This record gives sequence, structure tokens and C-alpha cells, in this order.
Amino acid sequence: MAKNKLKHFADMKTMDFVFEPDISTLKNGSFSLKGKWSTLFFNNQHPIIIELGCGKGEYTVELAKKYPHKNFIGIDIKGARMWYGANEVREKKLKNVAFVRLRIDFILEIFNPNEVDEIWLTFSDPQKEKPRKRLTSKLFMDRFKQILKPNGIIHLKTDSDILFEFTIKQIEEHQYKCNNFTWNLYGNEYWDNLSDEQKEILSIKTNYEQIFSNKGHLIKYCQIKF
Ligand SMILES: C[S@@+](CC[C@H](N)C(=O)[O-])C[C@H]1O[C@@H](n2cnc3c(N)ncnc32)[C@H](O)[C@@H]1O
Repeated sequence: MAKNKLKHFADMKTMDFVFEPDISTLKNGSFSLKGKWSTLFFNNQHPIIIELGCGKGEYTVELAKKYPHKNFIGIDIKGARMWYGANEVREKKLKNVAFVRLRIDFILEIFNPNEVDEIWLTFSDPQKEKPRKRLTSKLFMDRFKQILKPNGIIHLKTDSDILFEFTIKQIEEHQYKCNNFTWNLYGNEYWDNLSDEQKEILSIKTNYEQIFSNKGHLIKYCQIKF
């Protein structure tokens, strides 16, 4: 493993806002913050917003800076990427952020029903060959429905036509509610009608958004509710 990666992994172990639950803890249901993020970690009752497949955690960190009265948790299996977001949280001394190194498949083992207010899916893997593994498949959406509060929101931001078309089919098939839907987020027709606050949130650019935008991909966005 590259030297830098090892250094970053070791560094993350020193950060008290980064959690790396092991499989046995997850499987026997003993992750200590499950159902207790507000009381044991954040020490407040502010809304909890999570970013799944957060990579370097751009949404998690930028939203946390903008909304100090909301709590943010970035989740990804790749610790080397997560370190960048975690390092910024440490440098900026943000108290409303946590990161969890976890396979999203275990999401029900770290949150109780109704514990989460919003979910961001930022440039999720389109899983071209494995539709069941897409984060907007019924398998994952059923899990998200459990941890979300009634009226909770899922934000999907993607460059992928495959994932977006698949998601539209899921919305129709399972009768999810869909708002603020666009195939071209930054196109004048959609963008010009957004409030300044919406523009500020939606213009946060993740690492993958930058890569795909540079290749000329249009950015798609929608909000889903159950
Ligand atoms: C295409 S990258 C996007 C990263 C980041 N959101 C961005 O926009 O730059 C997808 C991320 O999802 C993570 N990921 C994919 N499937 C996952 C799973 N089942 N559990 C945890 N992380 C997953 C990958 O490790 C990767 O960091």
C-alpha cells in the first residue's frame, strides 16, 4: 500500500469523529452510536443529514460549514478518500461532522428507524452490470425508508444517464414522490428558477462532479420522498 495511504489510515485512527466499526460489531448489533448519534455524539437534537458514498466528503464538509445547527455524517468504504474531508473537519474544528467507514449495505446497523432527516447520494456508482447494487434500487431504498424520518428527503446528484433513468423507473414502479427533478441542473431553464440558497447548496462540486463535468457530462438532480 502507498506510504501516504498508510499515513492517512493511521491518522484517521486518531480522529474522534471518524468511526470504523468492524464486521462483528455490525453483525451483532453492538455499534454504540446506533440510535444515539444525537445524545452520545453530537450532544444536541439538530437534524442529521448523511452523505452515502461520500468519497472525499465535499457535501458533508461544505454543508456542515454552511449549517452549524445541523449535523452531518459522511459514509464511504474507502478510507483513503475520506481522510481529505476528515482532515478539513479537524483543521476547521467543525463540531457537527462525523465520518463512518462502512459498506452502505450495513446502514441499518448504525442508525435506528427515524434517526435521519436527509440523505445525499452524490455521484453514486452507476453499477452498470449490477442494478441490485445501485443505491436507488429497492433493496437500498427500503433500508433508507427505515432510517429516514417521515417526510425525510433523498437528494440524488449524478452525471450518469444509466443511474438516473433507472431511478426514474424505480420512482414510477414503487410510487415514490419526486420533486425538483432535472436532467440538466445547471441549464438556465432550471437553474434560473432556484433560490440563492438552493444555488449555493447545489453548486457544491464533488471530486467526481468535477471529473465528469470536465468531460462534458450534464449533471442531473432530483429529490425523492416516500
Ligand atoms: C463515484 S464515487 C463518488 C464519490 C463522491 N461522492 C464524489 O462525488 O466525488 C462513489 C463512492 O461510493 C463509494 N461506494 C460505492 N459503493 C459503496 C458501498 N456499498 N458502501 C460504501 N461506499 C460505497 C465508493 O467507495 C466511492 O467513494
